[in-house]
Amino acid sequence: MATFQLNGRTVTSSGPEDAPLLWAIRDDLGLKGTKFGCGIGACGACTVHVDGQAIRACVTRVSAVAGAKVVTIEGLDPKGAHPLQTAWIATQAPQCGYCQSGQIMQAAALLAATPKPTDAEIDAAMNGNLCRCMAYVRIKKAIKLAAAKTGARA
Ligand code: FES
Ligand code: FES
Repeated sequence: MATFQLNGRTVTSSGPEDAPLLWAIRDDLGLKGTKFGCGIGACGACTVHVDGQAIRACVTRVSAVAGAKVVTIEGLDPKGAHPLQTAWIATQAPQCGYCQSGQIMQAAALLAATPKPTDAEIDAAMNGNLCRCMAYVRIKKAIKLAAAKTGARA
């Protein structure tokens, strides 16, 4: 068991402490927006925020987030209207969509730290988030649109 904040509410996972955070989020706590891709920290599909940092939930033990603030795609904005989410819609960034919650969470951490990133900073930050549909051009366009419109917020 581990107790932590999940999208602003206190939760306790009932599974083993060495279970991946991703399992706790999806299977134990029922939030399916965070995806399983590779399971080895290599694709970014499972990206969530822990105390504001983008991390890979598939390789993070749930015990490691005890007492921490975890934010998933469901908690990024109460209305689903984070600047990145509206930019994602405006640019029609996704194709199949599977990688996209991870992409948005990674980008949100980037913009929170660097509100006006350069192309090189975007590339560096997003480098570990893979997209089998090759939507990279639209994803980058969406990040730049969000940054241009708003600065940023986490
Ligand atoms: S599922 Fe976690 S990085 Fe791929
Ligand atoms: S949109 Fe299909 S994997 Fe990225």
